[in-house]
Amino acid sequence: MSEPRYILVAVAWPYAQGPLHLGHIAGAYLPPDIFARYHRLAGNEVLMVSGSDVHGTPITVKAEQEGVTPQEIVDRYHPEFLSYWERLGISFDLFTTTGTEIHYRVAQEFFLKLLENGHLYRKVTEQFYDEERGQFLPDRYIEGTCPHCSYPNARGDQCDNCGRTLDPSDLIDPRSKLTGSTPVLRETEHYYWRLSAFEKQLEEWLLTRKGWRPHVLNFALGMVRDGLQDRAFTRDLDWGIPIPVDDIGEGKSIYVWWEAVMGYYSAPQEWAQRQGDPDAWKKWWTDPSAESYYFVGKDNIPFHAVYWPALLMGHGGLNLPTNVPANQYVTFGGRKASKSMGVGRPLSWYLDRLEPDALRFALASVLPEQNDTDLFDDEIVRRVNEELVSTWGNLVNRTLSLTSRNFDGAVPSPGELADEGRKLLTAVDAALEEEAAHIEAVELRAGLRTALGAAAEVNAYLNATEPWKLVKEDRARAATVLWTAVQAVAGVRVAFAPYLPFSTEALGEMLGIGPVEKWSRPEVPAGTELGEIRPLFAKLDDDALADE
Ligand code: MF3
Ligand code: ZN
Repeated sequence: MSEPRYILVAVAWPYAQGPLHLGHIAGAYLPPDIFARYHRLAGNEVLMVSGSDVHGTPITVKAEQEGVTPQEIVDRYHPEFLSYWERLGISFDLFTTTGTEIHYRVAQEFFLKLLENGHLYRKVTEQFYDEERGQFLPDRYIEGTCPHCSYPNARGDQCDNCGRTLDPSDLIDPRSKLTGSTPVLRETEHYYWRLSAFEKQLEEWLLTRKGWRPHVLNFALGMVRDGLQDRAFTRDLDWGIPIPVDDIGEGKSIYVWWEAVMGYYSAPQEWAQRQGDPDAWKKWWTDPSAESYYFVGKDNIPFHAVYWPALLMGHGGLNLPTNVPANQYVTFGGRKASKSMGVGRPLSWYLDRLEPDALRFALASVLPEQNDTDLFDDEIVRRVNEELVSTWGNLVNRTLSLTSRNFDGAVPSPGELADEGRKLLTAVDAALEEEAAHIEAVELRAGLRTALGAAAEVNAYLNATEPWKLVKEDRARAATVLWTAVQAVAGVRVAFAPYLPFSTEALGEMLGIGPVEKWSRPEVPAGTELGEIRPLFAKLDDDALADE
């Protein structure tokens, strides 16, 4: 056996400020789960972490709107996120929050390290101040016109239209979100990050990246080549992590984005502590042979492919991202599903109407890996019925029912295998290898197509051999064919395991072989007693997702 690889599966930290939608699941949460489940089966050491992003103005703006405290907002959505992961089978090793003691400590130490390494400096600047309310207005408290694309509702931190990150002072015609008034400029002192000093190092590093999606690499390279400005590292905001120095006055927090990305570094430390092995995280962070994959939506590319690597370079001694397989958007009738725009139905609505594997299947079929992808409810129903149920569910059902009914509920002895049977099993083994290569390259849609293709080959084998006739005409040959089909189904089950964890488990009971343990076709020995055979998936009514 080869040595296990150490693989950090780093997943975007959702703001604990609103429910999630299918677009978020397809964009950022289902892909890492598929990837992590595959790597665990392939014998690698996976650490999959994320958490709720609880600080900054996204949370305080929402709290302000509702007249509650920011912590009340967090306490509402964090448990909701945990329930999504449970219901959808998203297999985090740890899903924490940026509000933990350990995250505060790690972020503050990171700050001190950057300071010590000369990457932070103090600067007095003029920043927007709302005179009506009597406070400074950081990023999301200000809206205005984007200087790059003229979008009129750009936020102070980012333009949702062109995706550029912004500084509030870049906005044309700024207005305060708190009062609608035109903010005035006032002096305030902050720590600034010498990001401009990293241009060359970042460009050189990006050029060494192999296997990155072109849209990600091009975006990141474009940003770096356009030139990087120094960025404010702190904000005048109480709801955040206080800076660990006191030389620029009260009420200064680390900018939420800079500490949120540090969660990828603090969460493994929290995980290790919970394991009772406080140093266990180091395998993933300080051993240069470890790999790290960051699963995020495309609006997060700047933070994961440029800023976080620059922070890590500034810190030193920590691994840079192996890949940032950012997804494009899933759109619903052409509109992006995003929390901030409130498009699309909440995830819980779908979870109440679909089995989790059916939803996972439909989303995995359309993952927006290279382009924005449109998804409509009737397409979810069609894919579940025409692909999942008819190709895979029915295959399992007819193979196992026929076997169980005709061979006393157990796998028959194969006798002598014919060429076509041997060929089928070879094809299933080859599909597992082909799929592994796709998943390694984070081509998860293609991986699923390969699994479906393998199921289709088993169906073709059954259609050619017609075991339902053989059981009456030639029992020995029926035994050979059904033994072969059972072995093939057990192999295809492995191929679907990363995508369909719930039905994979149910099928293990029907096959009498328990959980999938590794990325290869297991042998189901003759004589194995089959469990109770039930349909793996329910066929959906045409109006399963219609508005009531
Ligand atoms: N909270 C951010 C968002 O929802 C994502 C943060 S990813 C992180 O867009 F790593 F920066 F936390
Ligand atoms: Zn813009």
